[in-house]
Amino acid sequence: MTIPINGFSKLTKEEKISWLADNYFSDIETGIATIKSYWNTDSKLQQLHDEFIENTITNFYLPLGIAPNFLINNRLYSIPMAIEESSVVAAASNAAKFWLSRGGFHAEVISTTKIGQVHFIFKGDNDKLKAFFKVTKSKLIQEASELTRNMEKRGGGILDISLRDKTADMEGYYQLHCSFETLDAMGANFINSCLEQFATTLKKEALSYANFSESEQRIEVIMSILSNYVPECLVKVGVECPVESLFSDPKQSEAFAERFVTAVNIAAIEPYRAVTHNKGIMNGIDAVVVATGNDFRAVEAGVHAYAARNGNYASLSHASLENGVFKFWMELPLALGTVGGLTKLHPLVKLNLDMLGNPTAKDLMMIVATAGLAQNFAALRSLTTTGIQEGHMKMHLGNILSELKATSQERDLVEVHFKNNTISHSAVVDFVNELRKN
Ligand code: HMG
Repeated sequence: MTIPINGFSKLTKEEKISWLADNYFSDIETGIATIKSYWNTDSKLQQLHDEFIENTITNFYLPLGIAPNFLINNRLYSIPMAIEESSVVAAASNAAKFWLSRGGFHAEVISTTKIGQVHFIFKGDNDKLKAFFKVTKSKLIQEASELTRNMEKRGGGILDISLRDKTADMEGYYQLHCSFETLDAMGANFINSCLEQFATTLKKEALSYANFSESEQRIEVIMSILSNYVPECLVKVGVECPVESLFSDPKQSEAFAERFVTAVNIAAIEPYRAVTHNKGIMNGIDAVVVATGNDFRAVEAGVHAYAARNGNYASLSHASLENGVFKFWMELPLALGTVGGLTKLHPLVKLNLDMLGNPTAKDLMMIVATAGLAQNFAALRSLTTTGIQEGHMKMHLGNILSELKATSQERDLVEVHFKNNTISHSAVVDFVNELRKN
C-alpha cells in the first residue's frame, strides 16, 4: 500500500517521477520511459512548459489541426484547432468549405461586459446598508484606481458597482455586483484584484460608519471573485442562403433544410438532445479556445449556464426556413483574451494568434463562435442525412489501425476494402485479423 507524501512539491522533477513510479506504476521502466519520451529536447522550451503548472512531470500532447477556408465577415481565415477527437477538424473544414461559396459566416459582437462579485454577510438594518453603500460607492472605485489606471487609459475599467440584496435566499447575504470592461484581456486577474480591493474598502469603511451599530460595522466578506457567467459578453454568428443554393437538386435542398430545421427545433425543446447538440458546438469552440491559450473550463461553464438561462437546458443554435431562405445562427457568451495569460508565453499560442491576424478579443470571439457554428452545421448535416458514423468512422479508422499496429501494407488493403464497406471497430479488427491469418 502506498503512503501519503509530505513535500512532494519540493522534490525535483526526477525525484517526483521516481516516487510516482515506485508507488503507482505497474511497469516502472516503461512508465518512466513514456514520461521521458514526451520531454522536449529543447531544455528551455521544456522549462517553459514545466513552469506553466505545478508538479510537472512531462507534457501531454494534443494534436493541433487547421481548418482552412473560413470566410468570416468577408475575411478568409485558417483556424487552428487543438483537440484529440477525430473528425472534428474535418467537419469544421467541411462546413467552412460549404459556406465559402454561399457568402460565408456573418459574425458580430453584441456586448463585452464582464462580471465579478464580492459576497458578504451583513446581519443588520437593510436601509442603513443601502445608505452606507450610497456614500461609499465612489470610495470603492477611487481606492481601486491604482489597479484600474492602465485599463482606463486603454478605454476599459470598472463600469458599475451595485448592491444586491440576496437576503430572501440566504440570511444576511448581500453582494457587490460589479461590471467591468477588460478590452483584449480575458480579465480574470484584473477583475479579481479590483474585487479584493473593493472588499478591503468595504470592510474598512464600515468600521468607521457612524450610523452602523458596533455589530453592523463588522461586515463579513465571504469571498471576492469574478463570475464565469457572462451573459452580457455576447457574440452572434450566422449563415444564410436561398434554399435552392444549398444543393444542386432543388428537392434535396428543400428536404435537407426542413430536416435540418426540425433537428435544431428538437434540440430547443429536448434537454437530452440539447446537451449533445451543444457538445457538438463545443467541439469547435473548445478546440480554438485551447489553441489560442484561453480558459476552456471558464468558457464551458459560462456557455452551458447560458444554454439553461430560461430554466430549461436548450440548444444554443437556431435555424429557420422562411420565404425560401435557410438561416442558421447562434448567440453565445464568450469571455476571451488575446493579451495576457499564455498568449505571449506559449510559442504555439503566439503562432496561432499570428495565424489569425493577431485578433482583438472581439475578433477572437467571432472566430471562436464561427468554429462552433460550423461544427454544429457539419454534425447536423451528417446526422440528418447519412448518419454520424459514416464520416466519423472514416476519420477514426486511422486510430483503429494504430491500435492494431497495422503495417503500411495492411493500411492500404484496409483503405481499399472499406471504401465500399461500413466501417466499425469490430469490422476493421476482423478484416485485419483475416489479413494476418492469410
Ligand atoms: P465527406 O463529405 O466525406 O468529405 O465528409 P470529403 O472527403 O468529400 O471532403 C470534403 C471536405 O471535408 C474536404 O475538402 C475537407 O474540407 C473536409 P478538401 O480539403 O478536400 O478541399 N474533410 C477533411 N479535412 C481534413 N481531413 C480529412 C477530411 N475529410 C474531409 N480527412 C466528414 C467527411 C467527416 C467531414 C463529414 O462526414 C462530417 O462533417 N461529419 C461530421 C463529423 C462530426 O461532427 N464530428 C464531430 C464528432 S461527433 C460529435 O462529437 C458530435 C455530435 O454528437 C454532435 C451532435 O450530435 O450534434 C455528432
